[in-house]
Amino acid sequence: MTETEPVAFPQDRTCPYHPPTAYDPLRTDRPLTRITLYDGRKAWLVTGHTLARSLLADQRLSSDRSHPDFPAPNIRFTAAKNRKVALLGFDDPEHRTQRRMMVPSFTLRRAAALRPEIQRIVDERLDAMIAQGPPGELVSAFALPVPSMVICALLGVPYADHEFFEGQSRRLLRGPKVSDVQDARDQLDAYFAQLIDTKLKQSEPGDGVLDELVHEKLREGELDRREVMSFATILLIAGHETTANMISLGTFALLQHPERLAELRARPELLPDAVEELMRMLSIADGLLRRATEDIEAGGTTIRAGDPVLFSTSVINRDADVYEDPDTFDWHRPNRHHVAFGFGIHQCLGQNLARAELEIALRTLFERLPTLRLAVPAEEIPFKPGDTIQGMLELPVTW
Ligand code: HEM
Repeated sequence: MTETEPVAFPQDRTCPYHPPTAYDPLRTDRPLTRITLYDGRKAWLVTGHTLARSLLADQRLSSDRSHPDFPAPNIRFTAAKNRKVALLGFDDPEHRTQRRMMVPSFTLRRAAALRPEIQRIVDERLDAMIAQGPPGELVSAFALPVPSMVICALLGVPYADHEFFEGQSRRLLRGPKVSDVQDARDQLDAYFAQLIDTKLKQSEPGDGVLDELVHEKLREGELDRREVMSFATILLIAGHETTANMISLGTFALLQHPERLAELRARPELLPDAVEELMRMLSIADGLLRRATEDIEAGGTTIRAGDPVLFSTSVINRDADVYEDPDTFDWHRPNRHHVAFGFGIHQCLGQNLARAELEIALRTLFERLPTLRLAVPAEEIPFKPGDTIQGMLELPVTW
């Protein structure tokens, strides 16, 4: 544990696929260090792989975001405090009940069944991009619409409304003002309230996850409207924002490693391992949040009840005790135990779907556009700030 001035967390990345260089001291002070949050509050940051997996599975760390002492990575986060976030914002036993309702829609088998539809969407987006270019802007033409269309199909949300909900989700995650976040929540609530009404009136329910929730859980009184709205919001936002960033940042990282890309083109069967290594290296959801509810002995110190505890997935996934030469992009390494999808009860519900989307999107993109390259110097590409999901705002490409 360090005795020096705590590092401020989170910070912007210097290179989009490496942890910020400002985190270097955290990488040597594993497995647990003190950090300072934006509001001056001191918190624990878990940086060691073994400790991270044990603490993420520890019931004494709470995810209840409505608690007044729950840590906030930025001021915008405080705007959402008075609203319960389904799944991610609940501890057991409520979390277990919610998760059980959702698991059947997100199994490996369900993701496999969606593959032809994902492939159709990917082909359609690439047809449109190719028809308009070169050059093209990969985020708006491909990386964002693909997961957005997939999650709409899965949930039963009309993709025709995508500009609305993508815009609100952008405001929710990146503001810039606190009032943007509040307003985006209100707008999404109103949108889903209306969508629920429409679905309730349908005599023949559609086959989306929301149709099931409305017709089986809401009608039967197992869930109330607010709960259905909360499920809809988290699934829609988590379902498109994260995967979109992985597609764009993953494409960028592969373009920056031509020798790796050449290997992947020659041996496409390596793609699942490549996706896993991209997940580890990019760790786009960096800074998972918890609050200790009891004293916990960990990493040679005591985390006190009430202390904020954060997890830097980017640092944890580069733990040199677990990953040899951790900063090297190498999909021949055993890398299955990364925490880029989290770990424990909140481990990503959509990970099977995300993997399927990433494999199909990246394989098809590089197959159909073998000469794909950046259209501007890498330094000119605008990346997202460190206090949100990591990714890029735009990715100008040509082919
Ligand atoms: C590559 C893309 C993705 C990444 C990197 C990612 C990352 C994560 C991480 C790190 C967590 C755990 C958060 C925590 O413990 O605090 C999480 C949870 C979650 N993810 Fe994902 N995710 C991705 C895609 C998706 C997709 C496609 C969905 C589809 C709906 C989804 C839905 C969720 C949900 C509902 C949770 C909360 C689960 C719970 O609390 O039980 N994610 N995700």
